Amino acid sequence: MGVRELGLPERFPHDGSLPSRVTIWEVGPRDGLQNEKSVVPVDVKLEFLDRLARAGLTTLEATSFVHPKWVPQLADAEELLARLNPHDGVRYPVLVPNDRGLDRALAAGATHVAVFASATETFAQRNLNSGLDAQFAMFEPVIDRARAAGLDVRGYVSMCFGDPWEGVVAAEQVVSVGKRLLDAGCTQLSLGDTIGVATAASVGRLLDAFVDSGVAVGDLAVHFHDTYGQALANTLAALRKGVTTVDSSAGGLGGCPYAKSATGNLATEDLVWLLDGLGVEHGVDLDALVEASLWMSWQLGRPSPSRVVRALSG
Ligand code: HMG
Ligand code: MG
Repeated sequence: MGVRELGLPERFPHDGSLPSRVTIWEVGPRDGLQNEKSVVPVDVKLEFLDRLARAGLTTLEATSFVHPKWVPQLADAEELLARLNPHDGVRYPVLVPNDRGLDRALAAGATHVAVFASATETFAQRNLNSGLDAQFAMFEPVIDRARAAGLDVRGYVSMCFGDPWEGVVAAEQVVSVGKRLLDAGCTQLSLGDTIGVATAASVGRLLDAFVDSGVAVGDLAVHFHDTYGQALANTLAALRKGVTTVDSSAGGLGGCPYAKSATGNLATEDLVWLLDGLGVEHGVDLDALVEASLWMSWQLGRPSPSRVVRALSG
């Protein structure tokens, strides 16, 4: 008999020091697949999205309307949205960097979009061909137009804890970028540890800095890459500060093609195992999710890096 049938992980009643429910923002189809060496066929992407929705995930970040030369892995964004099999109660946010991206996303019927800013000058140049200040001139009209069209707009901030070219990133610099996105109309901020160098201490410090600057913790999400194995500890630190939206990627797929040393995101299965043990609601069927990730790793021809996927499929 497997550990799941034996009632593991043991579920402790929710003790009030953590949020009672967490929204899992699944980024595997976007953050994961944008970093694959090969281009995954659109049929495989569609089935992956379908399987994730059937496993109970309600926010599936589906693709990006970025320049197809910059991210050829997601050049099929129009076809993907046109052929999407939408599930009731599931939203499918997409990334858009600029007006051209928003035009394409609106024409394709997107209903939730995300802009992605950098907390550092070097990454703004490498990821957006822009600059720390100049990036806002690109995002502000996008946010305005998207909000006017009735869309929610998430704002990512990348390199929140460290940057492979600039080193430690000051919390004040991250707060300043994040607040500019909120002031411009973003409805939620996702704080990205693009290269996975945060620790529980730096997560606590950054969240405190946002709250001290007047940002409600309910407007913040966390986005951890697991390069140094800290993503789960960092998530627990964020939950203890009251964060209720956590980004993760099925099977631990992920990375960023424009960030040196960015590896996979926190695996959704590892997150679900943690939340189950803590008694925090999330609405995901772990066994169905593991099945979806095993199916995807078979498509990609390599095993999932998620410890939970490996343990449950061993
Ligand atoms: P650029 O080359 O400076 O663009 O790229 P441009 O504005 O100078 O335009 C040049 C040409 O590209 C024009 O065509 C535009 O129309 C076209 P032309 O007039 O020469 O024929 N163009 C586009 N075509 C299609 N879709 C578009 C688009 N925009 C311009 N959207 C740009 C600037 C921002 C477009 C480029 O740098 C880009 O696409 N960057 C995206 C990089 C990316 O996707 N990175 C990964 C996502 S971020 C991430 O993973 C981090 C995150 O997970 C959080 C974390 O982990 O921290 C979110
Ligand atoms: Mg990322």
